[in-house]
Amino acid sequence: MSKLSLDRILQSQGFGTRKYCRALIEDGDVAIDGVVQDNYKATLETEGLVLEVFGEQWVVRERVYIALYKPSDYECSRKPSHHPGVLTLLPEQFTWRDVQPVGRLDHDTTGMLLMSDDGPFIHAQSSPKRHVPKVYLATTAEPVTDALVAQLLAGVQLHDEPAPLAAVTCIKRGEHQLEIVLEQGKYHQVKRMLAAAGNHCAALHRSAIGQLELASLGIGEGEWCYLTPEQLALLAPA
Ligand code: URA
Repeated sequence: MSKLSLDRILQSQGFGTRKYCRALIEDGDVAIDGVVQDNYKATLETEGLVLEVFGEQWVVRERVYIALYKPSDYECSRKPSHHPGVLTLLPEQFTWRDVQPVGRLDHDTTGMLLMSDDGPFIHAQSSPKRHVPKVYLATTAEPVTDALVAQLLAGVQLHDEPAPLAAVTCIKRGEHQLEIVLEQGKYHQVKRMLAAAGNHCAALHRSAIGQLELASLGIGEGEWCYLTPEQLALLAPA
């Protein structure tokens, strides 16, 4: 973190253009510890800074690392076409500061979606070289059989892939429930692997990334939280 003028700090946090941020400050809408700050040129240390904007606390963060519990019928794409985008579930400041999903979940997939405005983090986390295990719970149209589990563990050939893709682990969790762990993140991978193995994915949920479990975050569907450094460390490859 560093020293910046108040208008630049507000802009970096996604409150709008520099001009708009200056206007907010001059209008008396920004305070620190209850004291209105109306000088946009005031230089402040950003480390540990907590602003009050329109009376609401805003902890200044250089970069944000977020986990969203994605509901069904939201798109991860930047320009969603058939459903609202996942960014609509977050404060609008995050759109301004270019927070993006780390990888994609299909519009009908629920579960953990990481989001950040840290480009190198997004790149590293979504790199196929990283081998971060992702845990999915699939509801299958046909019953889960031992043969299905064996096939997914051995590897199934998808049309546009040079080699068969295999699950890291695959466990029957119910008559129509399969927990499947993948290290790659190919397009529609779980659905296509299930189809290639002769079944069909009726619903899909991502319950964990690396060692970070969605259930441990205490958020419900449609909710999000900042990730702590300890939680981020759990995203490392096994
Ligand atoms: N595999 C899929 O088929 N869909 C997802 O959303 C994620 C993994």
